[in-house]
Amino acid sequence: MTAQIITLTINGLQVSGLASETILQVARENNLPIPTLCFLEGLSTQGSCRLCMVEVAGSPKPQPACVTLIQEGMEISTHTEQLLHYRRKIIELLFSERNHVCAVCVSNGHCELQDLAREHGVDHIDFPYRYPAMTVDASHSRFVLDHNRCILCTRCVRVCGEIEGAHTWDVKNRGIRSLIVADFDTPWGSSTTCTGCGKCVHVCPTGALSEKGKSVAEMLKKRPSLPYLVANRTLEH
Ligand code: FES
Repeated sequence: MTAQIITLTINGLQVSGLASETILQVARENNLPIPTLCFLEGLSTQGSCRLCMVEVAGSPKPQPACVTLIQEGMEISTHTEQLLHYRRKIIELLFSERNHVCAVCVSNGHCELQDLAREHGVDHIDFPYRYPAMTVDASHSRFVLDHNRCILCTRCVRVCGEIEGAHTWDVKNRGIRSLIVADFDTPWGSSTTCTGCGKCVHVCPTGALSEKGKSVAEMLKKRPSLPYLVANRTLEH
């Protein structure tokens, strides 16, 4: 069976891709950047952060590029004024939700949320800060979970389940009360499933997961190793 080739335009440029590809995949294949946060190459997609929203001609609302399959004749815009406005507001809401104090964060200067804020000109926010009283779980011998910096992208949950196969992480509660938890909500250091591989730490886009002993701006994530891990896991099955 031959794969179906779809032709569409992105920002006026005619491009093509397979019917099984998303807008984000085709855009990246053609060096057309679309910002993402919950998406990470090699993990399943969940389409929750909404930063990758694009406009599709004829559609009344923006579509998330990471989970929307391409269709014949689609006319896509990735950087309209309206989309840039939405993205700024999403970033502002993420900053307002928890305690993202970059100046004292282990990931200062190496944080995807911070990078996105800079790229989108977010130098202040229009929403009231919630300043929630969040805990820090330092019970693990090598790693730290700081809920203050967590944006609930669930990359840690997905890499732990899909690549490491440990299924240590999950999300408890709903909405604004959501929290990343180990096992059945036990301190990370007491987890009976955690293998201590550190994959969750390295896919985390912010300073929410870090190695113990890192000071401000010292936590560098090794995300380039993920495609290698994915390829090895695929070979095993
Ligand atoms: Fe598409 Fe998060 S990257 S919704």
